[in-house]
Amino acid sequence: MKDDIKRQIERLKKEKNAVILAHYYCEDAVQALADFVGDSFYLAKVAKSTTADVLVFCGVSFMGESAKILNPEKTVLMPDLAADCAMAHMASVERIEEMRKTYPALAVVCYINSTAALKCHSDVCVTSSNAVKIVKALPNQNIFFIPDENLGSFVKEQVPEKNIVVNDGYCPIHKAMTAAQVQAEKKKHPGALVLSHPECRSEVLALSDYIGSTADIIKYAKESEARSFIICTEVGVDYRLRSDSPDKAFYYVTPCPCCADMKRNTPEKILEVLTTGKNAVEIPDEVRRRALLPLDRMLELAK
Ligand code: 13P
Ligand code: SF4
Repeated sequence: MKDDIKRQIERLKKEKNAVILAHYYCEDAVQALADFVGDSFYLAKVAKSTTADVLVFCGVSFMGESAKILNPEKTVLMPDLAADCAMAHMASVERIEEMRKTYPALAVVCYINSTAALKCHSDVCVTSSNAVKIVKALPNQNIFFIPDENLGSFVKEQVPEKNIVVNDGYCPIHKAMTAAQVQAEKKKHPGALVLSHPECRSEVLALSDYIGSTADIIKYAKESEARSFIICTEVGVDYRLRSDSPDKAFYYVTPCPCCADMKRNTPEKILEVLTTGKNAVEIPDEVRRRALLPLDRMLELAK
């Protein structure tokens, strides 16, 4: 990254009382620039508690939306409004309504990777780092988990005492990883531990030594006595893994998992939105009011 861009961003941040939030899947240069880097749960908490006036959110649209819903008086800028998460759209209000008619006292549990419109029809949000804890804590016996079938199935396995129906959405990047690809890496790197995100297929999770959110995977690798790891999630985490543990080895399946939407965030675009104020996230009041309820409930139940 050019020093000049970095200097201009630093100056504008001070001038506008702005902070930069970035997800672990963003490119290295964006993570290096950010004031806060983390998984989606951590970034939602930062968005709720920051005293900055402007948040530049380097992630995908559901993350920027959630930040705005949680903190509406702040300006939330996204470096690229086209950065979206395919899975966030993979559920429907019609199916939710159908499920509510079918199951009494149903709780609709909505993975935070979903549109604000879907959150409006949900009872509680979760992220990959708190989904099991929150589903266990709910008083409801019947659960409809949207939109991700893999995270939903993982939760279902961990909470067998509840009736959990899982929607059929998926993350294309995580779903592309197969057991055969993981086995090929294990053969090349005997002794390496497999650390996976719960958005992976169950056949990949079955081969894993540890399953957790991006932040959990990073923490596990840092604290583990093992020297080498096969990482089954998006390759952006490699930046933090390597900076935390430069003496450890990290491997990825082939082809390497890469979320093109997360990579839309660049230092140049951060500078542009800080300069112009363009790409502000706007959410109609009624949607914001309704979508806030499941997000707030998540923050409460995850404590
Ligand atoms: P985390 O909640 O682990 O950050 O994951 C978000 C995500 O988009 C995974 O694909
Ligand atoms: Fe969405 Fe998958 Fe990209 Fe995560 S990696 S933001 S779930 S498309």
